[in-house]
Amino acid sequence: SRAKRLAIVGYGTVGSGVYEALEENREKVEKLVGGFTIPLIVVKDGKKSRTTESGTKISEDIETLYKEEIDTAVEAVPDALTAYPIVKKLLEKGITVVTANKELIAKYGEELLHLAAENDCRLYFEAAVAGGIPVLSSIRHTLKVNNVEKIEGIVNGTSNFILTKMREEGTSFEDALEEAQRLGYAEALPDKDVDGWDAWYKTVILSHWLHGQPPVWPEEKPRGIRGIDVRDLHLAAAFYGRIKHTAVLEGTSARVEPRFVDADHPLYGVEGVNNGIHVKGSIVGSLLFQGAGAGKFPTASAVIEDIVNHWTNTAEAEPPYTEQRKEQETKEQDNFP
Ligand code: NDP
Ligand code: HSE
Repeated sequence: SRAKRLAIVGYGTVGSGVYEALEENREKVEKLVGGFTIPLIVVKDGKKSRTTESGTKISEDIETLYKEEIDTAVEAVPDALTAYPIVKKLLEKGITVVTANKELIAKYGEELLHLAAENDCRLYFEAAVAGGIPVLSSIRHTLKVNNVEKIEGIVNGTSNFILTKMREEGTSFEDALEEAQRLGYAEALPDKDVDGWDAWYKTVILSHWLHGQPPVWPEEKPRGIRGIDVRDLHLAAAFYGRIKHTAVLEGTSARVEPRFVDADHPLYGVEGVNNGIHVKGSIVGSLLFQGAGAGKFPTASAVIEDIVNHWTNTAEAEPPYTEQRKEQETKEQDNFP
């Protein structure tokens, strides 16, 4: 069959990771999918120097994306505002989209999934929750009979990285954040990481994924890690525990906050940029998924596995929708920054 044609929109940490991981693993991917090309990469600034193979064009004109003959597009731009019109147009044209953009999916996922279904294409977003950990597909593929009663997770790599650096090395909040930005873990607007919004978006996605509806939030906004200082972290250690930034989804009730976990808690040992997702299934009991929650190749890993699952027709069915979709979307969006 004809080689698959992939475009990548956004070529920062994630987009370049996807490109390089696909090229580095070309032989394996081609064995699975029977040939692929990456004819186009779209960026904001076409003048930045970037290294790509000879068959790949780099353009800063988004219109080239809609003219190019492609089967699938990776969306890896910084936020929902930038991504939404691009993804909408691609899906309307029947082009499958793979994204790592949790803000986009939390805010517009229901609408975009509908659009994909109407246009006979798909929207994938494994990388949007917990970076490299295949948590969405694990839940969907392997916990079908289990009732997932509770999910408790460290889902923001930047916050966990900062708290770990501060506790272990006495690094200041500002310096640790700067390092997380340099390493490509933080969002373009890192307030979203440290004020808890990134974890909030991921919790919204998990709730839709599990229950087909947004979570119920007892609090109006998340609590982040700003204001925690090294002394707090040492005090927690003196009580044989750690302060972790966690997202909890119990049924559909959710909260995002820093809290004390003792040394027996499953998330206690989840350190640095790692994420940990503790899932309680009604049959299996307690499961802990742990791994890199941010960064170039862990995130690229989740994106390219989505692409290959799509190209080999081995992807799971789409998540459930709610009847009151439109009404809920409006309410959710009103609550987001
Ligand atoms: P970066 O800031 O590193 O890269 C963003 C890219 O988008 C840049 O290449 C930029 O172009 C391009 N871009 C910006 N605006 C436009 C536009 N209007 N049209 C086309 N391209 C545009 O971001 P990341 O790679 O870190 O993040 C991308 C997405 O992945 C975000 O949604 C993020 O939340 C998500 N994500 C990130 C993770 C990480 O570890 N970094 C992990 C999981 C998800 P230019 O290069 O010219 O400036
Ligand atoms: N900024 C995010 C984080 C990227 O630190 O977890 C992964 O979604």
